[in-house]
Amino acid sequence: MSDTPPLTVPADRAAYAAAVQLAVDAAAAYYGDGTSSLDDDDYDRLVRGIEAYEAEHPGDVSPDSPTGKVAGGAVVGDVPHSTPMLSLDNVFSADGLAKWAAGLERRLGRPVTVWSVEPKLDGLAISARYRNGRLVQLITRGDGTAGEDVSHAIGTVVGLPGALTEPVTVEIRGEVMMTAAQFEAACAKRQAHDGTTFANPRSAAAGTLRAQDRPYVCELTFFGYGALPLPPGDGSEVAVRLRELPHSRIMGLVATWGVQTTAATPVAGVTATGVEEIQARVEQIAAQRADLAFGIDGIVIKCDLAEDQAQAGFSSRAPRWAVAYKLPAVEKITKLVAVEWNTGRTGIIAPRAVLEPVELDGSIVTYATLHNPNDITRRGLMLGDSVTVYKAGDVIPRVEAPVVHLRTGDEQPIAFPEACPNCGDAIDSSQERWRCVRGRACRALAPIAYAVGRDCLDIETLAESRIVQLLDAGFIADFADLFLLTRDQVLTLERMGDTSTDKLLAAIETAKTRPLSRVFCALGVRGTGRSMSRRIARHFATMEAVLAASADELQVVEGIGPKKAPDVVAELAELRPLIDKLIQAGVNMVEPGVTPAVAVDGAGDGQEDEKGEGSALPLAGMTVVVTGAMSGPLQDLSRNQVNELVERAGGKASSAVSAKTSLLVAGDKAGSKKAKAEGLGVRIASPEEFAALVGAFL
Ligand code: IVH
Repeated sequence: MSDTPPLTVPADRAAYAAAVQLAVDAAAAYYGDGTSSLDDDDYDRLVRGIEAYEAEHPGDVSPDSPTGKVAGGAVVGDVPHSTPMLSLDNVFSADGLAKWAAGLERRLGRPVTVWSVEPKLDGLAISARYRNGRLVQLITRGDGTAGEDVSHAIGTVVGLPGALTEPVTVEIRGEVMMTAAQFEAACAKRQAHDGTTFANPRSAAAGTLRAQDRPYVCELTFFGYGALPLPPGDGSEVAVRLRELPHSRIMGLVATWGVQTTAATPVAGVTATGVEEIQARVEQIAAQRADLAFGIDGIVIKCDLAEDQAQAGFSSRAPRWAVAYKLPAVEKITKLVAVEWNTGRTGIIAPRAVLEPVELDGSIVTYATLHNPNDITRRGLMLGDSVTVYKAGDVIPRVEAPVVHLRTGDEQPIAFPEACPNCGDAIDSSQERWRCVRGRACRALAPIAYAVGRDCLDIETLAESRIVQLLDAGFIADFADLFLLTRDQVLTLERMGDTSTDKLLAAIETAKTRPLSRVFCALGVRGTGRSMSRRIARHFATMEAVLAASADELQVVEGIGPKKAPDVVAELAELRPLIDKLIQAGVNMVEPGVTPAVAVDGAGDGQEDEKGEGSALPLAGMTVVVTGAMSGPLQDLSRNQVNELVERAGGKASSAVSAKTSLLVAGDKAGSKKAKAEGLGVRIASPEEFAALVGAFL
């Protein structure tokens, strides 16, 4: 992570003036009702660009400039704060943190012995005034010197009780926000009221806090992060304790008074000694971020001891004893370009958002989940909308909501599917999550049809329409179930008489004897087609050996690299129940003509065995390409079957002619491959000549 994200510095005075205006408007919306047109990242970058321009052109600095002002100078309130509500300086990396801490320690002339490390809550700063234990006034941060009275919200904020457990006169400072559940509830209420929704929890909280005349009430949450003496009680015993106690102890007091702090959350504030300990806690908090019920946008690091804070003091904008370690933005605004509908393995039909690509938490996001059709309706989403997209850590990116005030009027309604996008059958839309009426059978058809195809198990008489019948009847759910079919079951199917039933069952019986390469191919492991399946089968010889192979061992097989190997291992583990069912049904799991290459007591690594065995074969060490129509003894073989023959005879089947090709088998109508082989001087054989060479393996 770099300490300063890339900037665009205004090129001239006009660009500077435009940038300042944009920032002023965005800050006014952000600190006002929370409806900024810029996401946090873009706003930060804009202000840094303005800062950079001002550093180079001090004579041009506009009085409206947001730099050096609390809340970008956006908001003016009329209730003066007893003590200014300041901003925090930012760092963006471990290095930035270490430099900041070193700078502070230099200023103090000694090390800071105790730090407090706590989450930076992503909401709105608020000051809650308690007199004799009663909550009497709520004030927003405003410009830091004076804020707006939002006492009307008293009673709607979880964690901010109307009465404390002790009759103290104090000012509690903290953040007002919406939890994920409160956000959902608020969106539903607003949707029911005016058909629109909130862009994200923060702007929902901002809008809600200031709203006075809404016909519906939305709940908010408060987390305290500080407490101060409040006049006239500032000579009291409590006031003295608040001036003298370490920050961590003050937060303990705040909690005993009944105000919510982060203490009970997975990201509770802790104390730390030294930058390494701080960094460790920063990483722990960052790792929790995606799972939290509320938003955080960083970690706040503070001097814990009152004397350190007092000595460090303040700048005009921020305390020198605290800093915000900003985490990368996890929410951005982008455009909803399209909605795709896919039927999942269980038949659930889920919408997926196609987005204008946007960088989020270290990756480019192009797709995001939309959960279910109701969710689209609930959020009032439209095609072409600007939307807030959330992604943190490993979570699947999700579209949070449309940014309604950015609509241009060109947005279009989202079309919902009328039939299953996978099989075209009807949709059961009686539940929140839509389903194909075929359920699991919907997605089972394609893999089963693949498994019984000519290149895999080759069950000739099993047409796709039959597979659908078998799925519909509930006789099969996967292709292994074919081997468990009874005659009576098959006879119940429409258009299945005695003869066709016997024919089908005989074909299924024959399929049990296919070589391992074809059975493996039938599994449909991603990234392993026909030739890869043959190479795997020829190397390992038995399914048992394939299943026992580690990712490292799999990489011995040509075409399986360090990226693919773990995927194959993982997928085989997932397919294990299916493979076990096949074994139980008596399906062959051995590659004929190959000596098992399993290492016993560490003897041999399989690869040597294969080489040793291969060298006696007619095509050992040869790469063979087959092209054109086969004739003579090879006439009835499919291309895949000829390739199998090549490999049984010890060669490697390839589809492209290159300088590495040892032999081209060229049948009738062989085209460009033959010309290329001739050009390269590659040996060419007719199908008949080739059959003579490998006849023993036919
Ligand atoms: S301490 C004078 N602690 O971040 C000290 N602030 O960017 C300033 N914030 O205005 C406040 N979580 O709204 C502090 N644990 C935390 C915080 C926190 C969120 C907000 C607060 C402040 C802003 C500064």
